[in-house]
Amino acid sequence: MTTIGFIGSGNIGGTVARLAVESGHDVVLSNSRGPETLVDLVQRLGDHARAATADEAAAEGDLVVVSVPLKAVDDLPAESLAGKVVMDTVNYYPERDGHVAELDDESTTTSELVARRLTGARVVKVFSNIAAPALDTLGRPAGAADRTALPIAGDDDEAKQVVLGFLDEIGYDGLDVGVLAEGWRFQRDTAAYATPYFGPGGREDPRPVSADELRTRLGEAVRYRDMSG
Ligand SMILES: NC(=O)c1ccc[n+]([C@@H]2O[C@H](COP(=O)([O-])OP(=O)(O)OC[C@H]3O[C@@H](n4cnc5c(N)ncnc54)[C@H](OP(=O)(O)O)[C@@H]3O)[C@@H](O)[C@H]2O)c1
Repeated sequence: MTTIGFIGSGNIGGTVARLAVESGHDVVLSNSRGPETLVDLVQRLGDHARAATADEAAAEGDLVVVSVPLKAVDDLPAESLAGKVVMDTVNYYPERDGHVAELDDESTTTSELVARRLTGARVVKVFSNIAAPALDTLGRPAGAADRTALPIAGDDDEAKQVVLGFLDEIGYDGLDVGVLAEGWRFQRDTAAYATPYFGPGGREDPRPVSADELRTRLGEAVRYRDMSG
């Protein structure tokens, strides 16, 4: 059994926490408002869940999910995350997060920004391209014909293996897209972002996506800077 820490316990953090508990892990949840505001979620998740501060969740997690708005990245407890495998779900929505010049001109990627902020953390980009309702329902046992694949990216091969193992435990195949700088291939508005997992009814009607289909979608990714002029 592993302890998974959560910094951010909303749509995605809360969903990954449920999947983690159901696959036999302990979870330590945190948010910005304090552990007392997570009582309902902890109750729903049961005995293997508890709430703490973000610093405690970082320190206690063998693996830590960071699932906050990009604008909150500067608040992350970097010291406690040093050396940890960090699963980064963060996306960039300028209307929510404010404009970041390096992301607007695509000279860097969201996960590289997170990694730069978290010196020494072993950041792996994962769960960022799938909407919470799909992540909530598409998990399947290993070997199932309709198992869904999720892309990952990271600079630390060992950390990526750990994350692939975690994905397998919670019901997903992982597809390694490469180093963090390659994470743009499944950032917002690329062909592999969110929509592959939408069925005919859209976001609330998830459909499985195989590794082969995901590979095709990733291959269709185009950088916006390459589309202009
Ligand atoms: N929703 C999706 O389907 C989806 C899919 C893939 C990726 N993402 C990305 O994943 C991230 C989380 O998305 P979400 O939809 O789960 O958001 P959400 O439901 O709004 O949850 C955000 C969580 O982050 C916490 N938080 C905010 N600022 C914090 C801080 N300074 N320190 C600690 N915790 C903080 C919030 O706590 P409080 O509520 O206490 O402020 C909340 O628990 C975003 O970057 C999003 O773009 C979302």
